[in-house]
Amino acid sequence: MLHITGDTHGDRDRLKKLEEQGESEWGENDTLIICGDFGFIFANSDYEREFLDELEKKPYTICFCDGNHENFPAIYSFPKENWNGGRVHRIRKNVFHLMRGQVFTIDGKKIFTMGGAYSRDKYMRFENLSWWKEELPNDAEYKEAISNLRENGNRVDYVITHTAPRYIIRMLGKEPSLRDMELTGFFDWIRHDVQFEHWFFGHWHTDRDIEGKFSAVYYSVKNV
Ligand SMILES: [Fe+2]
Repeated sequence: MLHITGDTHGDRDRLKKLEEQGESEWGENDTLIICGDFGFIFANSDYEREFLDELEKKPYTICFCDGNHENFPAIYSFPKENWNGGRVHRIRKNVFHLMRGQVFTIDGKKIFTMGGAYSRDKYMRFENLSWWKEELPNDAEYKEAISNLRENGNRVDYVITHTAPRYIIRMLGKEPSLRDMELTGFFDWIRHDVQFEHWFFGHWHTDRDIEGKFSAVYYSVKNV
């Protein structure tokens, strides 16, 4: 089974809370998917590495798409591999960064992933210390996304992203930024032209289902 949740921001207590959400029963056939702002590879410290070693002891698989609050060079320093039909950075034997524009088959479901978002709090962050320019996708990542979706007949089961289509952001009562128009506009294209069963996204730090097909996840865990 897939268990989908929102931003974890490197908060160990946040992951511990999963115990109250059925985590103790998850085994080798279960996959936890975090919709960006994983944050456990941020300071690139021994403290973080020890915790990643702890995650390696979990009996289930842990995957995350990237958010905007990530140390991208640190994530990208892990080995790149093919895994379940898409490209990942292998963090530990059971912990994977799901790269942008990929289609994975996990638990028999096709899953499209596209991390990244614009940091509205960029003004209070420092480049290469608490903010990295890779937070928004580049041309190659968009091209790969389009090509991989096309290869799958523009049809997947689930979409996993950090932010959301502009239309959905407005449904949350938020105003999309001019700064991420390329990404959120791209997501609007997916919303129209790609067939999917459900779209899960983080970033907005809220738990809300929209129009039966979209779920903003933060602390909630969606079991599918
Ligand atoms: Fe976040």
